[in-house]
Amino acid sequence: MTTRVKKTGTKDNEANPSSSEHRPSKRAKACPAARAAGDSTNADRERALTAVGSAFSEIDGYAIARAERERQRAEGTFVGGLQYGEVLPLSFASVLDWMQPEPGEHFYDLGSGTGVAVLTASALFNLGSAVGIEIQHGLHAAALQARDSLARAAPRNVLRTPSDRVRFECGDALAAHWQDADLVFCSTTCFTPEMLETFVGGVRQLRPGARIAVTTRALELGGLRLVQRGKLPYGKGTLLFFVYCKT
Ligand SMILES: C[S@@+](CC[C@H](N)C(=O)[O-])C[C@H]1O[C@@H](n2cnc3c(N)ncnc32)[C@H](O)[C@@H]1O
Repeated sequence: MTTRVKKTGTKDNEANPSSSEHRPSKRAKACPAARAAGDSTNADRERALTAVGSAFSEIDGYAIARAERERQRAEGTFVGGLQYGEVLPLSFASVLDWMQPEPGEHFYDLGSGTGVAVLTASALFNLGSAVGIEIQHGLHAAALQARDSLARAAPRNVLRTPSDRVRFECGDALAAHWQDADLVFCSTTCFTPEMLETFVGGVRQLRPGARIAVTTRALELGGLRLVQRGKLPYGKGTLLFFVYCKT
């Protein structure tokens, strides 16, 4: 089946209750109603976001991505579709509010770059696991560095998910297993139609109640309810985010 994307500004998708691709799950639950705050107080949240920001003070994801691109070009291994962009912790905190993580849930960032989204999610919410999968080695290495510096610098009570439940993997996220996710973020802005098709195939297998955040273009797929969409400040400029819930 071909995946089509809708231009921004179109209506959200209708549920497809007849889908046979939903795996039954003990964790299955209805899509949560919209809510504005996470599971932290404002002061906790500010402390956690400051700690995440500090963990990245020495890391320039855009420069790392540029260096990777130059190296790949020199080696003749350059592949398109890996354009870099980075969420801001504060903006991603808003996306997480839309996703409403519950304690013990499993979060994935597919194409995690330097790990800002993963570390923001793990700092603000008590997750079962927070996993980032990134194909470029330099960015993956930076994510490991940020995770370790966050764990070293932040007092234990600031981070809600302990760092042993925060994992970064270097590899092809679209070929990985992430269908046990409760919460998935995928920055799909620069995805080719083929990459989007593969991603949507994975989304089809998520449990009902799972939440999915994508960027720039709406996902056109049955069995998704649009929870929220909005433009937020991004590493460079602003970016449109969409959060869906599997019905
Ligand atoms: C726009 S950046 C987003 C980084 C991060 N999610 C964020 O928002 O801060 C997209 C990232 O996805 C990575 N990427 C693209 N295709 C991938 C794949 N198949 N597997 C793993 N990573 C991939 C790129 O290398 C790039 O770092």
